[in-house]
Order: sequence, then C-alpha cells, then structure tokens
Amino acid sequence: MQFTPQSITEISIQAARGRQEHTPPALTDSTSRTMEREDWNQRYSAEALIWTAKANRFLMEEIANLAPGSALDLATGEGRNAVWLAEQGWIVRAVDFSDVAIGKARNLARVRNVHEAIDFREADLRNYELEFQRFDLVALIYLQIPQAELFPILLQAARAVAPGGTFLLVGHDSENLLHGYGGPQRADMLYTAEQVVAALGNELVIEKAGRVERPVETPDGIRVALDCLVRCKRL
Ligand SMILES: C[S@@+](CC[C@H](N)C(=O)[O-])C[C@H]1O[C@@H](n2cnc3c(N)ncnc32)[C@H](O)[C@@H]1O
Repeated sequence: MQFTPQSITEISIQAARGRQEHTPPALTDSTSRTMEREDWNQRYSAEALIWTAKANRFLMEEIANLAPGSALDLATGEGRNAVWLAEQGWIVRAVDFSDVAIGKARNLARVRNVHEAIDFREADLRNYELEFQRFDLVALIYLQIPQAELFPILLQAARAVAPGGTFLLVGHDSENLLHGYGGPQRADMLYTAEQVVAALGNELVIEKAGRVERPVETPDGIRVALDCLVRCKRL
C-alpha cells in the first residue's frame, strides 16, 4: 500500500440536512461483551428491519462512478447494501454469520427483484477463507468487532480486491465514543481510518482515508455520528 501520513485526506464534511440515516443501535449488549452470532440472531429476530432498507450513503457516493462488476459485501446484515449494489448491476456475494440476518437479506433481495444477482453466504469472517477469489469491489460497512479480530479480516479483504478493483470501508470512528452519536460504546470496537490503513498492509493504493460526519435523525432532532471511511484501489 502506498501510504504516508500525508496521504490521508480528511474527507469533506457531509452534513447537509435531508441526507440523514437512522442510527444503528449500540453493538454491545448490556454487559458490554462482544456480540456473537446468537446475540445478532436475537437482535435480528424482530420481523421488521432493524436497520434501514436504504443503502449506506457513503457506499452510494463512493462507488457511484464505478462500472459494475463483482462485489463482496462483508457483514451484509439485512442486505441493504448488497441489494442496492445488485440494483446498480453488480453481481454480489454477501456474507454474514447471522442466519437470521441472511434470511431477511434474502427476503429484501426477492422483494426488490435482485435475488438472482446475490450469492448469500453464512460464515464467520474470523475464519472465512477467500483463497484465490478476487472481486471488483470489496465493501465492509460497520463491521464493529474487537480490533484484534478485525485487522486480520481487513488484510484478507484487501487481498480479495481484483486488479483495478476498489476496497471500501465505513465504520464507527473512535472519536464517536466521546464526540459522536450512537454506535458501539466500547473503544476497542471502534477504529480510525489510520488504523484501518495500517491493517490493510501494502496491497492497495489509498484514495481516501479520514473521518466523516453522518447526520442522524433522532427523537431529539438531528445528531451527528462520526464514521471513518477508507477507499483504496488495486492498480
Ligand atoms: C452493524 S451490522 C452492519 C450490517 C450492514 N453492513 C449494514 O451496513 O447494514 C454488523 C453486522 O456484522 C455481522 N457480524 C459481526 N461479527 C461477524 C463475524 N465475525 N462474521 C460475520 N459477520 C459478523 C453481524 O451479524 C451484523 O449483521
């Protein structure tokens, strides 16, 4: 990866009203332990979507100008991003360890008539082998797990980017704990763009890395969540 501290671009603040995204609930349980598959299954067991059906705004913005190809959506959850990608013409593999989430994602894909373009896989990313498969886009949107578990996944994800392909990560930023809204309340499950860049190794060229603001609609009005965003390319 071609990266120096100077190459980090602080991404412009995108605080325009009318672009709010509902905040996800906190990602730890009341004992603050890491959420495992059964915890996620329980959270996803409500009939309604727990997140919005609308794709993440940064994903939509960052890949708007890419020609559709093959995409890997890691930690797909209820599939909002995978479904949107498929609607844009991408052939998607969508992975999550919650079978309940995958079931809901499949339903969403059927309702939106893109189920044939998405290969849903139930797998734990901590031991998911991508081997020699390569994708034109690899996306990780809000995979909040302890850093020690996340960083090896990031390296593997980077290796799965095809020549000319794009890697995009959006996560809850470390600064969000004290200065932002919502998100996990455990410091080791948050991270910064700089940490993500370091974890990616030398495989990719950094195009953007920094903190972005995400206005969130709450019962008390608009609050701002702080996300980190990293977009890279393989030459
Ligand atoms: C906050 S949700 C984000 C879902 C989706 N990316 C989105 O933006 O709507 C995090 C997802 O990560 C999944 N997840 C957490 N740990 C995982 C692991 N070790 N392997 C696979 N999926 C995991 C959870 O099941 C959950 O669906």
